[in-house]
Amino acid sequence: MFSRISQLGTRLLRENRAPANLPNSRSSYYRGQLRRRLVPEKSILFSTATSSTHDEGTQDTEKISVTFVNKDGTEQTISVPVGTSMLEAAHENDIELEGACEGSLACSTCHVIVMDVNYYNKLEDPADEENDMLDLAFGLTETSRLGCQVIAKPELDGVRLSLPAATRNFAVDGYVPKPH
Ligand code: FES
Repeated sequence: MFSRISQLGTRLLRENRAPANLPNSRSSYYRGQLRRRLVPEKSILFSTATSSTHDEGTQDTEKISVTFVNKDGTEQTISVPVGTSMLEAAHENDIELEGACEGSLACSTCHVIVMDVNYYNKLEDPADEENDMLDLAFGLTETSRLGCQVIAKPELDGVRLSLPAATRNFAVDGYVPKPH
């Protein structure tokens, strides 16, 4: 009797083992499905990240060399990221280029003189607003520009900009030098 009960128990255990295996194999099936779904996503993420890193790297390293010649004749050569205005670059490097209207074409205090006409010719033509401001600038020359309108680009690598001896703040009006 005991033996029959034991055999019955063994059989029941075997029968239970089969269904008990099913979830394992199903889990394995689901893992496979999951992997198949994840792999393409991983590939997309990988390729996107690679391309983005490459682009950022390119932007990070794209800088040009610009030399500012100060009023006293001293020179400062700085690295300027492409896309940055000469006014911003000057301020970031403590160069004495005023920029009273902060680039809104309402003054001429950011007046710079491009020292080499070949570089001057590589610039975009000045807009009417810039020409209007330049007409009122002190020490206007044939290669004068407003520093806030000159944007760094690869062709300008090596450009030299002279700071005029004086600037006039005529349009940010109400400007009256404070007595010291
Ligand atoms: Fe005023 Fe350039 S900062 S016009």
